[in-house]
Amino acid sequence: MKTIRAHDKEFSVFIDKDQIDEAVTKVATEIRKDMEGKVPLFLVVLNGAFVFASDLLRKIPFDCEVSFVKLSSYSGTKSTQTIRELIGLDQDIKERHVVIVEDIIDTGITMDHTIRKLKGLGAADVRIATLLFKPGSFQKDYKIDYKGIDIPNDFIVGYGLDYDGFGRNHAEIYKIV
Ligand code: IMP
Ligand code: MG
Repeated sequence: MKTIRAHDKEFSVFIDKDQIDEAVTKVATEIRKDMEGKVPLFLVVLNGAFVFASDLLRKIPFDCEVSFVKLSSYSGTKSTQTIRELIGLDQDIKERHVVIVEDIIDTGITMDHTIRKLKGLGAADVRIATLLFKPGSFQKDYKIDYKGIDIPNDFIVGYGLDYDGFGRNHAEIYKIV
C-alpha cells in the first residue's frame, strides 16, 4: 500500500486517480445538464479546491467564468469553527448563476458562510459543488447540489487537500493511518 508522510503523520492511499476522475466526471455531467446556457460563474474556494477546479472546469464545454476566494478554517487536522477571509471576492455577482467549488465539505461551516455572503450580494442562484463530503461531520442543513464522494470522518490529504500546508501536490487522496 502506497504511503506518504506530511509533517509528523503518515497517510495511505484511500481514493486512487481513477476513482477521483470518475467522481469529477459525475459532478461535471450534472453541472452540464443544469447550467448550459446560463453562463455560470464558478467560484473556487482556495486553497484546497484548486486541483479539483482545474479538472472540473476542463470538463465544462460551454461559456462560463471562473473566480476565486481564499478562506481558511482549519488548523492542523481540526476545524477551528471560525472562518478567516484571506482574499475576498473581486467580481460583481449580481444576477449571476454562481457555482461554489469546494474540495471538501466537513462541518459545512465554511460553505455556509460563503452561501450567505453570495446571496447577500444578489446572486440569481447559488449552487454548491464539492468533490468530497463527510456526512458524519456535517452540522448544517443546506442542500449540496453536486457531490462527488461521501467519505468517513477521517482526516485526508492529497489532490489539493493539505495537512498544515503539506500534501496538496499528490495525485491521489490519502487517509491518515
Ligand atoms: P468545514 O468548514 O468544516 O466544512 O471545512 C471545510 C474546509 O476544511 C475544507 O475546504 C478544507 O479546506 C478543510 N478540510 C476539511 N476536512 C479536511 C480534511 O480531511 N483534510 C484536509 N482539509 C480538510
Ligand atoms: Mg477548502
